[in-house]
Amino acid sequence: MNAMADATKELDARAQAILCGNDRGGYTVPTAGLYPYQWNWDSALAAWGFSTFDVDRAWTELETLCSGQWDSGMVPHILFHKTDPGYFPGPDVWQSGTALPSSGITQPPVAASMARLVLEADPSFADRARALFPKLLAWHRWFMQHRVRDGMTCVTHPWESGRDNCPDWDIGMNGVDVTGIPPYERRDTSHVDASMRPTKLEYDRYLTILGFGRGAGWDAETIMADGPFLMADPGMHFILIRANDDLAAMAAELGEDASDIADWQTVLRNGAEGMWNAEIAAYDARDMRTGQFANVLGSGAFTAYIAGAGKPELDAHLERCWDKVRYGIPSSDPDGPYFEQKRYWRGPMWPFLNALIAIGLKESGRTEQAERLRHETAEAIRQKGFAEYFDPLDGTPCGGQDFTWTAAIWLTWAGQETT
Ligand code: DGY
Repeated sequence: MNAMADATKELDARAQAILCGNDRGGYTVPTAGLYPYQWNWDSALAAWGFSTFDVDRAWTELETLCSGQWDSGMVPHILFHKTDPGYFPGPDVWQSGTALPSSGITQPPVAASMARLVLEADPSFADRARALFPKLLAWHRWFMQHRVRDGMTCVTHPWESGRDNCPDWDIGMNGVDVTGIPPYERRDTSHVDASMRPTKLEYDRYLTILGFGRGAGWDAETIMADGPFLMADPGMHFILIRANDDLAAMAAELGEDASDIADWQTVLRNGAEGMWNAEIAAYDARDMRTGQFANVLGSGAFTAYIAGAGKPELDAHLERCWDKVRYGIPSSDPDGPYFEQKRYWRGPMWPFLNALIAIGLKESGRTEQAERLRHETAEAIRQKGFAEYFDPLDGTPCGGQDFTWTAAIWLTWAGQETT
């Protein structure tokens, strides 16, 4: 065996050990310490990772995630299975009032896409997929009823997008009045260097928006109508389109009824044009209170590829951004005034997002770009380990280490290089 193959085998073993080490019994934490609960999209990606060596465990991950589903159909962004004082804001702050304490917002619905991949890994688990199907369908229906406005998928909190502090949200966050916010103690900066995390002002605003939702008893309509933050998000939008397609494909496979999805897709595909900002020639976030575009090219725009909505203008942006960085897709335009190469979603590259975008690039015939993305992601992991995210210029590992979704992406995609 050559040295490269040996190294790959060793990384495969480490990635499996990370997934197993972050397993808390039926669910996986993103990483010990910094994120001690079950996060929605992290968990879905963990399922994909588990499917490479333990398909039964992969289904359990998705089932545990859906065990936190609200009566409304929403699947929350965090499930607080066991209280851990090392994380803030915890269940006492969110006050979900649900049997399994949770946050009061959701996260990008990658779960259906991951469920389809897990089913493909071993079709003999069709019964598990069939049992999960109505829950995923109900969640997507909730999105259509409670998060889609004028055909555009909205987020009511930056945390809902999963791309917490990306510059896309700056115009919406500027209007959030933090006067009178009670004192609180952040815990994230005791685990990770503060320069890689959101700022204090951003946290004040996150907690203010959270406080509004809690005060509204987490009523989705009140939050959509009057909440302090409401923005249309290309990332959430294209992930939802893709998830609907994957759910429909699973329904066909399983003999389930998914007849509502076609109408949803018409609404969403037409609605995407409302997020096309001709001024920057890209999909762009919009403040739904003012109609204003963010005027930010972020990685959310590139998720268009997974929804089959790539355009030549996006290809050009991709090439331009790639000329500026060495590793994968940066979370914001390296030419933008807002770009910060190590600060969470304001610049760093995220391996799992590279993987999702690469799936879309490959399916749309952009195979060279897809392979480039895989190669650069693999290089970062080979050189620097299983970090949460990476500086796209020099590959510095950032955020939490031994990270679940980076390990999952190694096993499913980045470590599967053929060249
Ligand atoms: C955090 O705590 O940083 C999370 O991203 C919120 O979901």
